[in-house]
Formats: sequence, C-alpha cells, structure tokens
Amino acid sequence: MNAVEKLIDGQLMKKGDFLEILADFGDERTMERLTREAVRVRKKHYGIKVFTRGLIEFTNYCKNNCYYCGIRGGNPHAVRYRLTKEEILECCEEGWRLGFRTFVLQGGEDPFYTDERMLEIIREIKGQYPDCALTLSVGEKSRESYRLFRESGADRYLLRHETADEAHYGKLHPQTMSLKHRKQCLYDLKSLGYQVGAGMMVGSPGQTMETLAEDLLFLQELKPHMVGIGPFIPHHDTCFAKEPAGSVEQTLHLLSVIRLLLPRVLLPATTALGTLDPFGREKGLAAGANVVMPNLSPVRNRKDYELYDNKICTGEESAQCRECLESRIAAVGYEMVSERGDFLNWK
Ligand code: 5AD
Ligand code: FES
Repeated sequence: MNAVEKLIDGQLMKKGDFLEILADFGDERTMERLTREAVRVRKKHYGIKVFTRGLIEFTNYCKNNCYYCGIRGGNPHAVRYRLTKEEILECCEEGWRLGFRTFVLQGGEDPFYTDERMLEIIREIKGQYPDCALTLSVGEKSRESYRLFRESGADRYLLRHETADEAHYGKLHPQTMSLKHRKQCLYDLKSLGYQVGAGMMVGSPGQTMETLAEDLLFLQELKPHMVGIGPFIPHHDTCFAKEPAGSVEQTLHLLSVIRLLLPRVLLPATTALGTLDPFGREKGLAAGANVVMPNLSPVRNRKDYELYDNKICTGEESAQCRECLESRIAAVGYEMVSERGDFLNWK
C-alpha cells in the first residue's frame, strides 16, 4: 500500500510516509484522489455544515518578536490598540445578533491583560452568553493561567505550533522563544480539557518537505481538535519582507491531508488563504475545511491588526463579512450554520 492509501485507510503514518505524500503533490491523479477522500470524510462527519467563529482581535500589542509577524513587539511602525472590556462585549453583542455562537478572543502576548483582567473578561462573556463557546488565542502562558482561564469558562484555545522542527523554529523566532515550551503549552491545554488548535503557516521561510513532514507527525501525535493552516504572506515591516508567499495549492493539499489524518478535526479555511486567492476560502472548503472565522473586531481597528500585507476584510462591517461569506459558502454547496460547532462527540 502506498502512503496516500495508508493515510486514507487511517493507518499510523511514519515520517517517510508523509515525505512520500508531500513528494506526490505534483501528481494530479493522486491529488484528485486525496481531495475527493478528504471531502468524503468531511461530509461523513459534518455533512455540508460550515461553522463560523467571530474573531475579536482585542489587542495588537505583543511582547514577542516572531520574525514573520507584522505586530511583533519590535515593529515600531505598527499602530497599537487595545479594546476595553466594554468594547469587547459590544463585539460579542453584535456577533450574537448576527448568529455567531463562538467568539474567539485573539491578541498578541500583551502583558496589560493580566490573568485578573482576562478572567474578568472571560467571566463576563460567559455570563452574558452561556450558550456560546469562548475560544482564547493569546499565546504562551503558564499552566496555572490556562487552568484559571478554563475554570472561568474558556472552552477552546488556539496556539499554532508554527513548525515542529527545532532548527526551523529557531529561524522564525528569537532565542527567547522555544519549540519545547510551545509544545508544552499545547499538551497542558489538552490536559486541562480545552478543545485545542495547533497549526502552521505553509511556505514560511526555511520550510522544507522535511519540516512539513515533522509538522504532520506532530499533529498525528498531539491529535488537536482544530488545525489552523494558511499560507505565509510577507509583511513589509519584517525581516521576511522580501520572501515569497506560500503556495495556495500546497495549502489546499495539506488541508486534505490533515482532514484525512484527523477525520473529525475542525479545520478553518483561513483569511490568509482568502488573501492570496480571491476564492481561497471556497477552495479551502472544497479541500476538506469546515470552519470560517470572519472578523468581528471594530472596523476602526481592523487595519492595525496587520499580521501580513493586504489582509482582506479590513474595511467591511461585521454584518457585511458574514453575509458575504454566507453567500460564498452557499455558492459552493455548503451551508453556514449558527451553532457552537464543537469537536464531534465532545463531552
Ligand atoms: N503570514 C501568514 N500568517 C501569519 N501569521 C503570523 N504572521 C503571518 C504571516 N506573515 C499567523 C501565525 C499565527 C497566526 C495568528 O497568524 O501562524 O499563529
Ligand atoms: Fe506576537 Fe509573535 S509577534 S506572538
């Protein structure tokens, strides 16, 4: 049995198997089969439903300095903002009205939001919207902080591992950050009962077939509930400004591989994919993705949450984004639903 068949068959994959699949990405027939199977598995578990998450980008201050990221602390040109608790709650209110049942609080690693402040925000959101899921995406914290957040009501946590290869991790991040700690955070989050999201950029500088195979091996081992992948897109104020963007095709193939590797995974068709290709998100759905994450942030702040250049949806109202996505999703044969959209058979 070749590696693609092993993957479709749900067998335990070795690094060599992933390398074989990655090498096959040029082969049209194999890729067609991979995509078809990925969509079949997606439909078996989730039908044609597409879950939506309202993304609230509540701070773009960051103490880290990831070399690829436009809001890294070391970028003096970033225009910084923070939302107050009241502003965050206004976003939730609008989101609720529009039909969102998951809110994602995402931000840089901003020391202003102490555990105490975070707990207040989490309690308030969960108090007002007890039937909504709350997802946090605020970077690396201590197990104790994660525990407190979880106890106050946070349901899910997104923390992309970015790359599972030590040397590659070192090329993308300053020495103050480590892959080991990042992985520890992900395992802590899992053991605390969060639905956990990992993931990586596709085509980040220094990425190779080898590092991608390591990413897939790591995902197989961690078994996250969600996987966020999107193409790398250069940001003009970073040292990777002149690097080429990742490939849309390769991102789509990887979405299919991940759908087959983790059949029930919640897999977003990301904004980065929609930024590189006007139909990127639709193509993502057709490759096995089942989630979209439209922006719920106040329009006045959107352009400042600039992780990469030319990010889409920075001028639109939340309602416009939701409507736009709803019709795009329907046009390719799927249905946007107003549900929490938990991992299938979640306790
Ligand atoms: N291009 C694409 N994705 C990026 N991210 C950060 N910077 C970029 C970029 N230049 C992704 C990272 C991070 C997520 C919030 O956004 O993977 O985890
Ligand atoms: Fe903010 Fe990387 S620059 S987490």
